[in-house]
Amino acid sequence: MSEMMDSSAAHHAFLGDEIVARINALGAISETPEHLARVFLTREHRAAADLILSWMRSAGMQAHLDAIGNVCGRYEGEVAGLPCLMLGSHYDTVRGAGKWDGPLGLLTAISCVADLNRRGRRLPFAIEVTGFADEEGVRFASTLLGSRAVAGTFVESVLGTRDEAGVSMREAMLQFGLDPDHIGAAARAPSELLAYLELHIEQGPVLEKLNLPVGVVSAIAGATRLAASLTGMAGHAGTVPMVLRRDALAGAAECIVEIEEFCRTDEDGLVGTVGYIHAMPGATNVIPGEVSFTIDIRAPTDAHRKLAVTDIVRRIENIAKRRKLSLQIDVTHENRTVPCAPWLKSQVAEAIAREGFRVFELPSGAGHDGMAMIDIADIGMIFVRCRGGISHHPDEHVETSDADAGARVLLRLIENFRPRGAAGGAS
Ligand code: GLV
Ligand code: MN
Ligand code: MN
Repeated sequence: MSEMMDSSAAHHAFLGDEIVARINALGAISETPEHLARVFLTREHRAAADLILSWMRSAGMQAHLDAIGNVCGRYEGEVAGLPCLMLGSHYDTVRGAGKWDGPLGLLTAISCVADLNRRGRRLPFAIEVTGFADEEGVRFASTLLGSRAVAGTFVESVLGTRDEAGVSMREAMLQFGLDPDHIGAAARAPSELLAYLELHIEQGPVLEKLNLPVGVVSAIAGATRLAASLTGMAGHAGTVPMVLRRDALAGAAECIVEIEEFCRTDEDGLVGTVGYIHAMPGATNVIPGEVSFTIDIRAPTDAHRKLAVTDIVRRIENIAKRRKLSLQIDVTHENRTVPCAPWLKSQVAEAIAREGFRVFELPSGAGHDGMAMIDIADIGMIFVRCRGGISHHPDEHVETSDADAGARVLLRLIENFRPRGAAGGAS
């Protein structure tokens, strides 16, 4: 019963098949055939952008690539030049990614606009769809680059960061055909946006457990990312007695287990991950002299996260001191918890209810472009159930019927959208 469609639902085509076909087409654009990887300013970034631009144009939008490599589509309202409701998500991926994290929200938005366009429906506001070029921060260890450029908060100093091959972001932008001195051109003024709305897979198991295809997001949890490096003394694996060693990798291993234990024993939802480690010189018969690794810390409240970060850094310092390793540790990214606007949450809830689904509100433990967009617009989010809550993994999966349910909710939301403070209810 809870999954039955409301008889007064808007009449539109079944959008699930188109969305899933495009998810698969985009999912085939990857650096490597064995696993999906599509990172910022690569050939695959360009190929994906071109395909998305073509879908935007066939949906009746004006579309272009902006100064940071985001794809931007605009569907005018009843008259040209009106402020817009911005929809979007990202189209970069982690390495070994699933196909749905990011693209689902972007492709659903395009399919919703295409449906309006087929019906000749124009609204009293414009709709813009933005495909953000870098949300994951994989290549340059600096996240939300696309949405920060749109929000006007892109930090120029990250242009000097280098990828694993030693290419700086500035050089990569030039190779891609973008001008690193004109990133400011991607920025939008708050007056141009009525709101930013993003549909995304849940990336967790809650909706599946509740047997619900969609949910209302309450807030996006904050995150801190750190880069740590430990330096000891490289040496011969066969000759240096164990007690005389200053093994940086063994020190890093102790830090990793300490972080895991610290977070595991926390009772208030703290999570900590070391997702990257590099040991040098990296040979079987050499004691590792230098190791760098990353740390990602998240918690339901900012106060809790900040306390945890201080505590974890202190524990790592103690390990380094005891093992006579020198330590360099820096915060590379910090985002506060970002709430979804109550007025948008209630419109998302209304659209879900009108589509015949039970309304359920849940927070997002994952980061999203809304964390940057909040600087220029109120944000709202819709979650779509994903199988087993699996994400950042090739097994990430959404049922076609759930993709369609998400599209129905988004379309209803768009067609009934009232800007902040405007009167009126659902039709
Ligand atoms: C993005 O997927 C993040 O939450 O790190
Ligand atoms: Mn992701
Ligand atoms: Mn994502």
